[in-house]
Amino acid sequence: MKQQQSGLNFYEKLFVREHKPRSILITGASSGIGKSSSLLFAALGDQVTATARRLDRLNDLKAEVERENLPGALLPVEADVTDPDAMRRAVALALAEYNRLDVLVANAGIGHRGALVEADWADLETVLRTNIDGVIHSVRAAVPAMRASGGGYIVLISSILGPVPGPYAAVYSASKAAVDALGRSLRGELRADRIGVSVVHVGQTRTEFAEKRLGYPGQVATRWPTLQPGEVALAIAHALERQPRTLSARTIDSLFIWAGRRFPAIMDRLLTRVYR
Ligand SMILES: NC(=O)c1ccc[n+]([C@@H]2O[C@H](COP(=O)([O-])OP(=O)(O)OC[C@H]3O[C@@H](n4cnc5c(N)ncnc54)[C@H](OP(=O)(O)O)[C@@H]3O)[C@@H](O)[C@H]2O)c1
Repeated sequence: MKQQQSGLNFYEKLFVREHKPRSILITGASSGIGKSSSLLFAALGDQVTATARRLDRLNDLKAEVERENLPGALLPVEADVTDPDAMRRAVALALAEYNRLDVLVANAGIGHRGALVEADWADLETVLRTNIDGVIHSVRAAVPAMRASGGGYIVLISSILGPVPGPYAAVYSASKAAVDALGRSLRGELRADRIGVSVVHVGQTRTEFAEKRLGYPGQVATRWPTLQPGEVALAIAHALERQPRTLSARTIDSLFIWAGRRFPAIMDRLLTRVYR
């Protein structure tokens, strides 16, 4: 038995270890990584406030939590991350339901593919407003509630294109580089409030992201290794446990970031060929 227990990997331990239920607000919970994270935390017994614009999807998610008899709870809240009032309302509803807020997972985001100069400004603006302003509004709404709860934790969902920008994805990459910068600044800024911050660098994941991206929508590139959203959800749970400054869900994503920093000229040429 002892051997079996010590043989458990981190993720298996996560499921066998008991913890106090946490009140967790997740943005972009209507699909992909946010949806998988909501289900994972409800399965771990946490109290989830699931936010997005598509309330019907969030109501289906609540029904799934109940149907599966998961030990946690899920509160669906319609909220657009680009609207600061909506994010403040979402936090107020989380507090009314669960009396505290322990964790924010700022996950909502949208992609863009295409040459910067030819792209529609409206599309680029949507990416900037959603991926940068959306994270800022979410953090600004959540932090006062976390302070009142005696501390908390923030996980910001970035991309491997944050540290290693991709050609023909300039504004999306820039938006995720901004998320990286926000995470690093906030980690220092919120330490005194006992609020920790991690940034997750996500690699290609099988969600609605590729087909919904603005500019040139596409599909998940099957020739590249692809994550399942549940694997990213586990990385987010890992971030809450280990509280690293940054993390990736897979070694290959960490290698990509390392190579992009160490060999920028080679990686830029490679990425230009791939992204064109
Ligand atoms: N999939 C990938 O390959 C990949 C790679 C790197 C990083 N990421 C990052 O991972 C995060 C999650 O993406 P995903 O792959 O799970 O994509 P997804 O399946 O398309 O989910 C995106 C989520 O964001 C929400 N959202 C978009 N705009 C919003 C807005 N204005 N207000 C509130 N919610 C909004 C969507 O909900 P509603 O439309 O219902 O509002 C949806 O729930 C994003 O930040 C993305 O940049 C993804």
